[in-house]
Order: sequence, then structure tokens, then C-alpha cells
Amino acid sequence: MANIELPVRDSFSSKLGVIAAAAGSAVGLGNIWRFPYVTGENGGGAFLLIYLCFVFAIGFPVMLAEFTIGRRAKRNALGSFKKLAPGKPWYLIGSMGIVAAFMILAFYSTIAGWTLEYLVQAFANGFEGKTSEQFTRSFEVFQSGSFRPLLWQLVFMFLTAFIIYKGVKNGIEKYTKVLMPLLVVLIIIICIRSLTLEGAKEGLDFLFRPDFSKIKLTVVLKALGQAAFSLSIGMGTLITYGSYIQRDNNLPVTALQVSLADTIIAILAGVMIFPAVFAFNINPAEGPGLVFIVLPNIFEQMAGGYFFAIIFFTLLAIAALTSTVSVLEVVVAYFSEELNMKRGKATIIAAVAISIVGMFATLSFGPLKNALIFGRTIFDWFDYLSANILLPLGAILIVIFVGWYLGKKKVRDELSNQGELKGSFVNVFMVIVKFIAPIAITLAFLYGLGLIS
Ligand code: PFF
Repeated sequence: MANIELPVRDSFSSKLGVIAAAAGSAVGLGNIWRFPYVTGENGGGAFLLIYLCFVFAIGFPVMLAEFTIGRRAKRNALGSFKKLAPGKPWYLIGSMGIVAAFMILAFYSTIAGWTLEYLVQAFANGFEGKTSEQFTRSFEVFQSGSFRPLLWQLVFMFLTAFIIYKGVKNGIEKYTKVLMPLLVVLIIIICIRSLTLEGAKEGLDFLFRPDFSKIKLTVVLKALGQAAFSLSIGMGTLITYGSYIQRDNNLPVTALQVSLADTIIAILAGVMIFPAVFAFNINPAEGPGLVFIVLPNIFEQMAGGYFFAIIFFTLLAIAALTSTVSVLEVVVAYFSEELNMKRGKATIIAAVAISIVGMFATLSFGPLKNALIFGRTIFDWFDYLSANILLPLGAILIVIFVGWYLGKKKVRDELSNQGELKGSFVNVFMVIVKFIAPIAITLAFLYGLGLIS
């Protein structure tokens, strides 16, 4: 008799695998490239304190809400809503997530590509003997070119697609389980180097000592936006990953561990960067160029800088890769489950389509610099639309869905593994997802739109 085997849905095989994958998504350019300069621009320690409050009071519950939806439905970001709310328009949250994933990957892969260019330069000893002006100039020349930024973006997309092509267990889990511990080791090495520089203490003071005179509403809301982007919430990444989490996994604990890991890495990124910035007398509010202009300059002046530069750009590339993988998975899971494509085909189509769109984002720094649409370049539009509109809107709707539609009974089932786990956390969680999170994220959203300032 023919033995008919039903295709089994791929999933993570271990607790460690879930954490590595989800923390891999959360820890990215948002932690190492963006967090330090946003903190630098917004008052250091005071910003950090507010950021921490948001991560744990709002970011963590939203992450848990996404895991709950994903694991309960066992579907992709759009299919999950269709399954949990059949015939209702809630699936539009999922559609928005797919569009957001497309846009995020299009512009994120531009910056991810830059990390490879700098890694290669670090290997080739390309920073040696350059002055500050030369570092700025060479970054501008590289960024505004066409061939190299596009090449690196495509290489990065290829690496991302390669991991996704291999599947959830044999791709995402297998690679993040190696890459994430490596990333932690590399960060710690650079932190130690940075802390042993003369004048390091001033940098730590800047990062940790709160100065509340800097705190205005805009800063509060920026901290919320940064927390959402950094934790990868609001677009279905964690719904998709949640759908691969096994039944016996303790979701609240997993979400807490991932939020903690993301926060610790962001703080370590600050510890890695600010002591060095102060030791070399640089203005901490250097903006997005901090990592690509200021740091190479610091490595050039530092004993052993050749090796530290290689280590730094390796860890930046790893952080970016484990995040791009999670974004591509959102689209691939959707293509394969909703449009019935084989995983391989879905991966190739998604990666090629996103790469083509992404090339326009990359060229926004060069030949398309002046191709402005309502005052913004294509890169800026993708960044703005995804981070300031789709992500917060997605997060608001996700918590409303879990708080008001899914309801307490189903949430309790999922958070307690059908009553196996004890804990009265559910009541607090429901208050947050019903009231606190929607209101707080709505404020951030309106700020992002410029409707309040
Ligand atoms: N959390 C990632 C970072 O901090 O770089 C970026 C990101 C990944 C945002 C995945 C959103 C997402 F769905």
C-alpha cells in the first residue's frame, strides 16, 4: 500500500533555536548602528532609561502578542489572521506586514551591503593613514557610487536567501545558533578594548548618567519608536517565527529572554562605542555616520585597530544578516502558504523582487539622489513608510486584535500552554494589550506622522 506522507510544517527544533532565531531578528543594525547614535543625539542616559521602560512595559507585551497569534494559528503573518478570524478583515494587518517586510528589506539591505564594503576594506587595511576628512570623503564617494553599493547589496541578499532557502530548522535555526553566540563574543572583545582606552569613563558617564533636562515629549516618543524597530515588532516577523515555536515552549519566558537579549546587546553596543568616541574626543551626536565614518577613524588611531576593525564589521554584518533573514521569511512563508509555491521558488521570487526594489533604495544615495518624491528619496520613503507608519500601525492593530478580538480565554490558553504553566501574568498582560500599549503606540505614531511634536 502506498504510504502517503503529509508534508509536515517546518519548525524550530529546540528552545535555544527559538531564542537564537528571534534574538537574531531583534538584534540588528537597529542595535549597533542606530541605537548608539539615537542615544547620542537624545541625551544619553536619560534616553536609555526611558527606552528601557518602553522595552519592558510595551515592547515585550507586543512581542508576546505576536508569538501568541503565530503559535496559535501556525500560519504565516497573513494566514494567521485568516485562520483566527475567518471572514473578517483582520487579515489586512497581515497584508500590511508583508508590504512592510518588502520595504524594510529593500532599504535595510542597502546599509547591510555597506557593512560588507567596510569589512573588506578593514581586511585590506584600507583605513590606514587616513585623516578624519578622508574618512568622511571616502564614505561619501562609496555611498554615492553605483557599482559597489549595488554589488554588496546583492551579495547580502544572496546570503539572506541562501539561509531562507534551506528552511526553518536547517536554515534559520542552524545558522542563527552559530552566528548569535559568535556575535556576543565579538561584541565583548570590542567592549573590553574600548573600556581599556584612556578616558573611557567619560563615555560610560554619558551612556548611563541620566540628564532629565533633555527629556521632551519628542525624545520619549523616539525612544518608543526605537524600541519597536529594535524588537522587530509590528510587521509579522514574530508572528511568523511564533508559528514555528513548539507547543511546550513557555512563550512569556521566551519573549522576555529575547527582549532582554536585544536590550543587553544595544547597551553593549553603547559600551563598545561611547568610551571610544570620548577617548578620541569626538562629538557623541555624530548621527548615522557614527559607525561608518567615526569608528574606522577610531580604529585607525587605536593600537591593534586593524583586528578590531575586522571584528567590528564582522559583527555588524552578522547582526544585519540574522535580521534580514527574519524579514525575508515573512514574505517567503506568505508566498509558499498562501500562494502555494514551493519554498525554493518562493525564496527566489521574493529575493529577486525585493532586490530589484532595493536597488532603487541603494541608488538613492547616488544617481537617484535628486529623484525626490515629495521631498524624499526612495530610500527615505521606504524607511519613513515602514518604520514610522506601517510598523507602529501594525503594532497597534496587533495588540488590539489580541486584547479585544482574541480575548482573555484564548490568550490564557496560549500563555499557559493549555493550563500547564502557572502564573497570574495574564491579567496584567490583558490590561497592557487592551489599553496601555495601543495608547502609547498611537502617540508614537502621531509623532512619526508629525501630527504632534
Ligand atoms: N530589529 C531589527 C534591528 O534592530 O535591526 C530590524 C528589524 C528586523 C525590524 C525585523 C523589523 C523586523 F521585522
